[in-house]
Amino acid sequence: MTLDQPTTERRALITGATAGIGAAFARRLAADGWHLVLVARDAGRLAETAAELTDRHGREAETLAADLSTDDGCATVERRLTEGTPVELLVNNAGISLNTPFLRSSAEEEARLLRLNVHAVMRLTLAGLRPMAERRRGAVINVSSVAGFGAVMPGSTYSASKAWVTNFSESVGQSVRPYGVRVMALCPGYTRTEFHARAGINMSKTPEWMWLRAEDVVDEALRDLRKGKLVSVPAWRYKLAVAGLRHAPRRLLEAVARDTRGRTGRDVG
Ligand SMILES: NC(=O)c1ccc[n+]([C@@H]2O[C@H](COP(=O)([O-])OP(=O)(O)OC[C@H]3O[C@@H](n4cnc5c(N)ncnc54)[C@H](OP(=O)(O)O)[C@@H]3O)[C@@H](O)[C@H]2O)c1
Repeated sequence: MTLDQPTTERRALITGATAGIGAAFARRLAADGWHLVLVARDAGRLAETAAELTDRHGREAETLAADLSTDDGCATVERRLTEGTPVELLVNNAGISLNTPFLRSSAEEEARLLRLNVHAVMRLTLAGLRPMAERRRGAVINVSSVAGFGAVMPGSTYSASKAWVTNFSESVGQSVRPYGVRVMALCPGYTRTEFHARAGINMSKTPEWMWLRAEDVVDEALRDLRKGKLVSVPAWRYKLAVAGLRHAPRRLLEAVARDTRGRTGRDVG
């Protein structure tokens, strides 16, 4: 398996690599000796992140400024995945939520969420997997969410987008196993990053014990990828939550959803 091979030429491409979980992947993989291709929209922040990683770990860090909610942005990253030095690990991490309940949302905003959270993940997985299957080595981590296991955030379309990412990754992951290639959905719970602030979601009432550290999420993800898991849910408290979401009666989940809406005073985006 790619991750275990002590080669100095391993290269990982990470989308959304300048903040949160993506930045934690970049730091961890650079420390482990991987060269990197970093993708995000903000070219200045990308250059700073790349310089910092190269200074600290002596690894190459290419940058690609691309908006993955656009066709052009996806095409730029697809080209990098299919041409040039092979990419052995693809981390489809960039994703957003909205803070507008569906009835008050717009088709444009919903389409932007779907283009980034779903469409880009599909395109880049396809572009990355083909050369991996030919070389019979490589892996894809698609960052999904525990939110994808149930509709417990009334009015949120984010959960639906992540349900797609998890199901897609599990299905494709099974189909590429014979090629020696792995695909895994990473499903974190609440993680301290810029994610909620960017969406304008007030998380001040979320208890401290519910928060994960991005570094811990990444450590567990890489452990699970090595084990060959198709779905990784970091932290025991979230593994239990997912078991509940998968097996609890629908009526109970609806009650939890009503309680969520009651406590937050809004539909969670
Ligand atoms: N934080 C959580 O509680 C949590 C929980 C479960 C799952 N997740 C998932 O984890 C993933 C990473 O989230 P995070 O919390 O680390 O978010 P974050 O801290 O907000 O970082 C988002 C990263 O994605 C990039 N990005 C945003 N929009 C983009 C676009 N249109 N095209 C290309 N890059 C874009 C950002 O850079 P630019 O702005 O420069 O583009 C940034 O590097 C997401 O898929 C999210 O759904 C997060």
